[in-house]
Formats: sequence, structure tokens, C-alpha cells
Amino acid sequence: MILGIETSCDETAAAVVSREGAVLSNVVSSQAALHAPYGGVVPEVASRRHLELVVPAVERALVDAGIALGDLEAVAVTEGPGLIGALLVGLSAAKALAYARRLPLVPVDHLHGHVAALYLEPDPVEPPFLALLASGGHTLLAEVPERGSMTVIGRSLDDAAGEAFDKGARLLGLGYPGGAALERLASGGDPGAHRFPAAMLGKPGHDFSFSGLKTALARAVRAEAAAPADLAASYQAAIVRALVGRAAEAVEATGAGTLAVVGGVARNSVLREAAARRCEELGVRLALAPSALCSDNAAMIASAARYAPALPFPEYLSRDAYATAA
Ligand code: KG4
Ligand code: ZN
Repeated sequence: MILGIETSCDETAAAVVSREGAVLSNVVSSQAALHAPYGGVVPEVASRRHLELVVPAVERALVDAGIALGDLEAVAVTEGPGLIGALLVGLSAAKALAYARRLPLVPVDHLHGHVAALYLEPDPVEPPFLALLASGGHTLLAEVPERGSMTVIGRSLDDAAGEAFDKGARLLGLGYPGGAALERLASGGDPGAHRFPAAMLGKPGHDFSFSGLKTALARAVRAEAAAPADLAASYQAAIVRALVGRAAEAVEATGAGTLAVVGGVARNSVLREAAARRCEELGVRLALAPSALCSDNAAMIASAARYAPALPFPEYLSRDAYATAA
């Protein structure tokens, strides 16, 4: 049994996962309401809240799983990328727990964690596949040849897709966090009402760009170019078009037989449906994690730890977190 801890952004999460990939518990304490008045995550506020929530989250994860600390064989924790102060709270808690029980510690890369959500029961996905990871902090395409490894072949040159959703929501007066709120507003709108650009489609390589889209929305909002619901639907459609279009180009270029979509933005139902339609046209399989495992959680971190090197007791005490990927 592996205890996972995740504190890279504004979710304090702890989970227990078995070696086989069964999720025995999955606790996510969201700080979203705490940061909402500021219109985004305030790093120092996040660190302090993680400090208050991390021990209760771990206790709750153990109780929900029906186990005690003594039943654990390893502690897994996100070591980066993310907010450095937030990461250090989770890493320190994980070190302390592992050290006290003389357990190994498994440092996990957050992006590997998002992909490893796919390896959990009850419907684990088997590599090889091409992964589209779209979250608030990252948007990338990666070839995944086997569990535990991935090669990034493209990434966003500016904003992440989730960031585009969040900034769009803010422009539409929807507050933070904006992805789900924008999807709700868009559900009553016409996606063809306004034509937003889907950057990079057809260009060489596999990178993305979303910053121009946000500028176009700002202009459309100012000009009152369409009703808010129509703008939301059209803006969402452009993000989805860019994500699915670039992923489809990469599927064709790499000859992948399966496309997997992960990360917080993969909760978006318009994206899930568009990806399903495109995969059917391409004749490839689409793999999606359950929505709850797409956004930040600790079950995905414990899952990734099954395929990452463990640091034996007590060799991890000097281990440091990292804010950005090397
Ligand atoms: O993976 P995640 O939980 O955290 C990061 O690692 O960043 O992703 C959070 C992002 C946020 O930008 C949020 O607005 C977006 O995922 N998101 C959505 C939806 N639910 C969450 N974006 C679009 N539609 C949604 N339903
Ligand atoms: Zn994430």
C-alpha cells in the first residue's frame, strides 16, 4: 500500500493506492474558495493552507482506506513542478511520515502523475499511447512507450489550455477557478457565433499557443461582439479545436494507436466528446481517466510511484522540490 501526497498548487490531497492500482482512498481538499477573492492562486496563502490541511488530509486518507500508518510500504509525494512553497509543505510532510516509519520515499513528477491516473483500476490503460496533457499549468503532447516513462514532443509556447480557460472566465466575469464555470456558461451558447483563432493548426511540430486567443476574447468582450454565452461557447470551441486538432496531427505523425487525454481540462465534456469523434474518424482508441482523477489528486501520484525509483530510508532527508521541470 502506498500513501500519496500532492500539494503542488491549491489542492491539498492524500490518497492510498495498492501496488495493483486499486484506489483505497482519495481525499482532495480544495482551497479554491480561499483564493477566489484574489482571482487566482496566491502562492503564500496556498503554502499556509497546505500546512493546516496536510495532516488532516493524510489522516482522513488512512481512515477512508481502513488502514494504519504501519500498513504502508512507501510514501509518494509530488516534488515538482509547481509552487515551490506549496510543494515544500507536501514534501516535508512526506519525509517526516516516511522517516518516522522507516519507509522508502518516492518523489514523483506531477506531470508523470497526471499520466499515471490512467494506470489506476478499474479500467487501466496500457501503453504505448500518445498523451495529451492539458492542465492549468501545462499543455503538452507526449509519447508514452511504457508505464513510468514519457517523451514530450510538443508543449504550449505561452499559456496552458487551463490557463486560457481561467483567463477567459475572468474576462467574462466568471471568477476563479474558471474552467468549469466557463463550460457551464458555454452550454447555453452557440459555438459558431464568433470565430476565434485556433493557433498552430497545420504548422510543423507539435507545439501549442493560446495567448492570442485570450487577446481576441478581450477584444470581443469589449466590442460586445456577441452575447456572453455565445462568446464562452465560441472561445471554448477554439481551445478544443486547437487541442484536438494538434493531438490528431501528432497521432498521424507518430502512428499512435491510442490517444489519451489527461489533466484538469480533460474534465471538459466538450473536449471529451470532440476527442471521441476525432479518434473515431482516425480509427484510433481514445483513453480518458474518470473526471475526478483528471484534476489534481494524490491517487495519481501514488499510482506514478509504482513506476518510479524509491529512495530508501533515510536517504531522502536532503531531497529538494523544484518549481519548474528541468
Ligand atoms: O490538472 P489541474 O487540476 O491542475 C494543474 O495541474 O494545473 O488543472 C486545473 C485546470 C484549471 O485551469 C481549470 O480551470 C481547468 O483545469 N478545468 C477545466 C474544467 N475543469 C477544470 N477546464 C475546462 N473545463 C472544465 N470543466
Ligand atoms: Zn495538475
